[in-house]
Amino acid sequence: MTTNILEVTDLLHTYKDGGEAVKVLKGVNATFESGNMYAIVGESGSGKTTLISLIAALDKIQSGDITFDGKSIKEIGENEFRLKYVNIVFQSFNLIRYMTARENVEIALDFAGKSDGEKDTAYCLLERVGINRSESDRLVQKLSGGQQQRVAIARAMAGDVPIVVADEPTGNLDENTEMKILALFKKLADAGKIVIIVTHSKKVARHANAIVKRMERGLLE
Ligand SMILES: Nc1ncnc2c1ncn2[C@@H]1O[C@H](COP(=O)(O)OP(=O)(O)O)[C@@H](O)[C@H]1O
Ligand SMILES: [Mg+2]
Repeated sequence: MTTNILEVTDLLHTYKDGGEAVKVLKGVNATFESGNMYAIVGESGSGKTTLISLIAALDKIQSGDITFDGKSIKEIGENEFRLKYVNIVFQSFNLIRYMTARENVEIALDFAGKSDGEKDTAYCLLERVGINRSESDRLVQKLSGGQQQRVAIARAMAGDVPIVVADEPTGNLDENTEMKILALFKKLADAGKIVIIVTHSKKVARHANAIVKRMERGLLE
């Protein structure tokens, strides 16, 4: 398996809040390699969401760079990057609530453009994250938060992209469910993806075999 490298260099980011400019990222440098799961921890307001949004190409880079295998997001283009390079797992962010879990995963399968022969079925992927048949056929809005999270991860498995990012994916889950969800993210990493998650719990991150990086007032350790 070849190694993919996501490199963040001298990333600066400032928000203009009214007339005042707030420096949020103050020169972030980091290297993320495929096959690993990274956990970004740090206090509220330290800039974690800002960093993950830039990595997901949801926001424009102001200064510094993010490259994938040596190619800048700016060069690849934000839209192209979001479509073909990165999968964003937010609790209900990319799930279509009025469709069933199975339909949500099928969309991702179709999108990955694999032929029927080489793709796992949606049911099979959902089963791997612990969603059974009857849950798979239920509307997403009728699943619990933890189940929706699992569906979002199954979607990430269906997608054929090298990077998976998640911002506090286990935010309102109990610790047991949280551990299970993180183990699923670890599976994605073991399958060769770059997995980057923001989590509030350093303890949980360690348990899940993640490489912990600490964000502190706009700088990453
Ligand atoms: N769109 C925005 N406009 C102005 N300030 C923002 C905006 N988004 C975030 N901030 C501020 O930037 C800082 C870092 O926010 P964020 O990246 O969300 O941190 P974290 O995810 O670690 O809590 C906070 O002080 C926050 O209030
Ligand atoms: Mg945040």
